[in-house]
Formats: sequence, C-alpha cells, structure tokens
Amino acid sequence: MQPRHFTSLLDLSSSELRKLIHRAIELKTHRNADFQPLKGKVLAMVFEKSSTRTRISFEAGMVQFGGSAIFLSPRDTQLGRGEPLEDSAKVISSMVDCIMLRTHEHETVTTFSRYSRVPVINGLTDLLHPCQLLADMQTYFELRGDIAGKTVAWIGDGNNMCHSYINAARQFDFKLNIACPFDYRPLQSIVDPASNRVAFFNTPELAAKNADLIVTDVWASMGQEEEQKKRECVFKDFQVNSTVMQAANPDALFMHCLPAHRGEEVTADVMDGPQSVVFTEAENRLHAQKALLEFLICQ
Ligand code: CP
Ligand code: NVA
Repeated sequence: MQPRHFTSLLDLSSSELRKLIHRAIELKTHRNADFQPLKGKVLAMVFEKSSTRTRISFEAGMVQFGGSAIFLSPRDTQLGRGEPLEDSAKVISSMVDCIMLRTHEHETVTTFSRYSRVPVINGLTDLLHPCQLLADMQTYFELRGDIAGKTVAWIGDGNNMCHSYINAARQFDFKLNIACPFDYRPLQSIVDPASNRVAFFNTPELAAKNADLIVTDVWASMGQEEEQKKRECVFKDFQVNSTVMQAANPDALFMHCLPAHRGEEVTADVMDGPQSVVFTEAENRLHAQKALLEFLICQ
C-alpha cells in the first residue's frame, strides 16, 4: 500500500482535514497518558533550517504517544555530503515509520516523498508550511467554531505561510483578503485555483475590514536574512497595529506562527493584546502534530 504524505494541505481531502482538526481538539481536551498508539514507532526529523515549535511538537508528540523521534541535521548526516536524495529516502524509510523534513527547496520534500515507503511530512519549505495551518485552524475552531464562510486577512509577505493560507481557504472554505507589497505577492500558480476565495487589497486596513481573523508573519523568512534591511523599508506600511485590528470585526482574533518581531510586522500592543491567540496557536502545534502522526502512521 502506498503511504499517505502531508507535503501540502492539498494532500488530504477537506473532510480528512476537518476530522484531523476535531481529533486534535479531542486529544488536547482528553489527554490520556495510557493512550500510546505509536508505541515502538520512530519518526525521523530532517532539519535544514532552525526550529523551536516544529521540532519540539513533533518530538514531544511522538514521546507522548509511546514512540520516539530522531533529530537529523544535514550537517551530521550524509545528506549534507551529497548522498542522492532518492537513496537517502529509500534508506531512512526502511528503518523508521514516518519522516518529517524542513527544507529550503520544496522539491526536496516532494522528491523525498516519491522514494519513501513511509509517510513524509512537510515541516516547512520555502513554498509551504502546512503543519502550521493545522494548528491555526485548530485554534480558530476551538475559540470561534467552524471557519467556513468567515473572512481571514493576511497582511505582509506573500510567503510560505501566505501560500498555505491560500490552500487553507480552498480546503476550509473561507475568504482570504491579502494585503502585501506588489512585488511580494504570493505565487500566481497557488492563487489561481483559489481565485474565487482570494482577494487583494492595497492597504492592511482595507484587507482587515469585516475580517474574523488577522494573520501576519515575519517580513524576512529563514534564508532571507540578508534582505532584512530592504524588507523593513518595503513592508513598513504592512504592519498589523491597533488601527488594522480596529478595522476588523470586534471579535476578530490575531495569529502569528512565531517567531515574531514586535515593532516590525506586528506592534507589541497587538501581539500581547486581548485579541492575540499566538501562544494557544503555538501550543496547538503539539496537538495538531499528534493528530497528524496518528492519521498518517496508524492508517
Ligand atoms: N512556527 C514555526 O514553525 O516555528 P519554528 O520555526 O520554531 O518551528
Ligand atoms: N515564513 C517563516 C515562517 C517561520 C515559521 C519562515 O519561513 O522563516
């Protein structure tokens, strides 16, 4: 049987994603230390980039479910010395039950998945960050109920998180208003299939009008550190501040995948204010990851 992979939100059906979100909420609400569906199972985690939340949530999730996780840095494995990806995928997947990769190139994850005999999870690429969306959706469902028919405003860079919000708009059936500098819009190939749900605005205030959820992310993602100064100029009018929050619905939530830069993409009063749910969102990475691991490994 071919393994299921999670390289993108589009790898699962809408109903599978919804079930997964409800399962994550259930796992969070009814924590049972005796429930160990992944006893003896092993997750390999390959990180080409830094991580706090992704690494800890996957590792803790595996341990809580009775399994274990191995952290692999390309620096310390043959992956960093040019062993072909196809060979690495065959070898690693012959020894573990699931593999999570955080890489620069998205193609690294998709190629790896083609040669892996166990499920492969995208733990963030330059293109997408689908695991974060599971936690974000869980957070919205928990606090406000179903997101179908709601309006989400994405403010800032048309980056991996923005791309995953576009895919989420398709899968969870919400409207996505995007405000980003013209040269930093998301890829058209990702926008096109979601065009009936996505709209572009020139200012954050216009995008935030009637929104139920405001989301942003860093102006310079991992790998773009040398562009930081330039991006600070380009993005200065694309900040989430109290004026933007006031343009949204009164009960709108604020989310950010973290790490955040207060004073850049979000002001401290919003980040630490009453509408911000960023730390619940971060905690939910654990519960969402557990639901995902259970779904992929136990099928
Ligand atoms: N949000 C997120 O993926 O955080 P890390 O980079 O710390 O894993
Ligand atoms: N867009 C950010 C997300 C970090 C979780 C990055 O890729 O660095």
